[in-house]
Amino acid sequence: MKILTVENISVIINDRTILENITFTVNKGEIIAIVGPNGGGKTTLIKTILGFIKPIKGNILLFGKSPEEAVKTGKIGYLPQKSSVPKDFPFSALDVVLLGLINKKISKEEKIQKAREYLRYVNMESFENKPYSSLSGGQQQRVSIARVLVADPEIIFLDEPSTGIDVVAQESFYDFLRRLKEEKNMTVVMVSHDVGVVGRFVDKVAGLNRYLHFYGHPKEFFKKETLQNIYGSEVELIVHSPECVACEHFHIEFK
Ligand SMILES: Nc1ncnc2c1ncn2[C@@H]1O[C@H](COP(=O)(O)OP(=O)(O)OP(=O)(O)O)[C@@H](O)[C@H]1O
Ligand SMILES: [Mg+2]
Repeated sequence: MKILTVENISVIINDRTILENITFTVNKGEIIAIVGPNGGGKTTLIKTILGFIKPIKGNILLFGKSPEEAVKTGKIGYLPQKSSVPKDFPFSALDVVLLGLINKKISKEEKIQKAREYLRYVNMESFENKPYSSLSGGQQQRVSIARVLVADPEIIFLDEPSTGIDVVAQESFYDFLRRLKEEKNMTVVMVSHDVGVVGRFVDKVAGLNRYLHFYGHPKEFFKKETLQNIYGSEVELIVHSPECVACEHFHIEFK
């Protein structure tokens, strides 16, 4: 079932074309990774889908509605690209998760119970009373993801959620996304720079650099021409295992 349709959208900011003729659809339960170089328009695309930026042309339907109407349904979760929190940010980990329930009409006790359940879901239950600002970057990301999930969204948009999460934790982060898909039939649209890792975990890759150069199965994405279209000709493919370009031994290096 299609839940997101992006049709031929273009975005211009300060007379510069940031996105041009972007078209793709997302089905319920899919995990999509948007990849591409810095400044390629990944964050802009997510903000446009959520209605924060107006495209100069094209059409977006989320749950069959315009972005402005869709965000009011409460079915959408959004984790913005990480910004640093001030040292005196006064909230505990539990408080941050409770923020995700601010619009829900349930009792305070129920809110706390639900927030705890989601801290457990991201393996952060033992940190509930710790100040959020004292947590490591990766721990903050986990708590923020719990804040997004606690509101029971049907689709989540995560802008570089694995930033700051170490490699071992990252592995379990992607397992965690699969679990969300399997247990909650969650649809996930995420921005990622871990090109080598996402290939093993996502259903589709969106290769974005002003244009959507590629949209499809990760296996197809790991072709030299596709990668050079997205990252430019200076990209060097390092493939340790030639028969399996989408495997874990793959990464991209810049000359
Ligand atoms: N509010 C803004 N004002 C001016 N330029 C902007 C604004 N937002 C984005 N841009 C420009 O749009 C382009 C795409 O930015 P965007 O943040 O979408 O890239 P990105 O793919 O998310 O990059 P990164 O990987 O670094 O997060 C950049 O050149 C950026 O300078
Ligand atoms: Mg970005």
